[in-house]
Amino acid sequence: TKTSNLGYQVLADRITNGQITRIVVLTGAGISTSAGIPDFRTPGTGLYDKLAPLNLPYPEAIFSISYFTHTPEPFYAIARARHPGNLKPTISHAFLALLAKKNLLHFLFTQNIDGLEEDAGVPVDKLLWTHGNWKSQHCHKCHAEYPDDLMKNAIRAGEVPYCLKTECGAAVKPDVVFFGQSLPAEFEDRQKMAAEADLMLVMGTSLKVAPCSQLPRLVKEGVPRILINMEGAGDMGNRGQDLCILGTCDNGVRELADALGWRDELETLWKD
Ligand code: OAD
Repeated sequence: TKTSNLGYQVLADRITNGQITRIVVLTGAGISTSAGIPDFRTPGTGLYDKLAPLNLPYPEAIFSISYFTHTPEPFYAIARARHPGNLKPTISHAFLALLAKKNLLHFLFTQNIDGLEEDAGVPVDKLLWTHGNWKSQHCHKCHAEYPDDLMKNAIRAGEVPYCLKTECGAAVKPDVVFFGQSLPAEFEDRQKMAAEADLMLVMGTSLKVAPCSQLPRLVKEGVPRILINMEGAGDMGNRGQDLCILGTCDNGVRELADALGWRDELETLWKD
């Protein structure tokens, strides 16, 4: 399904003829589902529908800092499944790398913590992990560092790692942003880049979690916004220049690549 008073091809042509040069992208869990990581909120398959055995007060508690501080076990019960390792980026990730290669990626905000954007070749200075990432971990109380190898063991075993400082002993947490924690300090400054966009692309997110959910609203009126997602999200589609491509992200980027004349290049980049 596509809706816009701007034709699909018109937008693609504006990119290829150089009228559009500053594309700001916001991604969420939906760009990584085809890599093997279920999203959060899709009924039936999303993580939040699978947590009943853990007896949480509400599903998001599993990523809530106030809950984690007294009950860290549920997070570690699912950590391994959320962080399987050795995943291959999807063609949607490759599309983002292609935008960067063509100097069209102004900035990428990702809510994902899987690191697949970087693996696909998006330069790290062009992206912000708005919800942190799994590359490091600290004690959630005293913020002492914790060794990578011990963390790996804990995740593999599904056991809670505890701070090595004997006077502390609180649970260690990967440096991902939990509900109740601040986003990386960089976010404040970087979010201004949404207003600099001459095209915004929103992919694979339900736009249910602030403040990232607000980024598409920061795009200037009159600037086109594209949503590629299984379902509608936020206010995408409400502006006259919006284009909603409903379906999988991978199909959506392939269609876009066709319209741009980049299809072969995209497939090649993805396979390499
Ligand atoms: P959600 O699970 O809320 O939304 C994922 C969106 O992607 C949904 O709208 C799906 O319909 C769509 N989707 C799923 N698979 C897709 C596919 N293959 N192609 C296209 N669309 C697809 O995930 P996020 O919006 O990323 O934060 O969630 C935002 C934040 O909430 C997460 O970063 C996480 C979570 O709680 C924290 O835990 C702090």
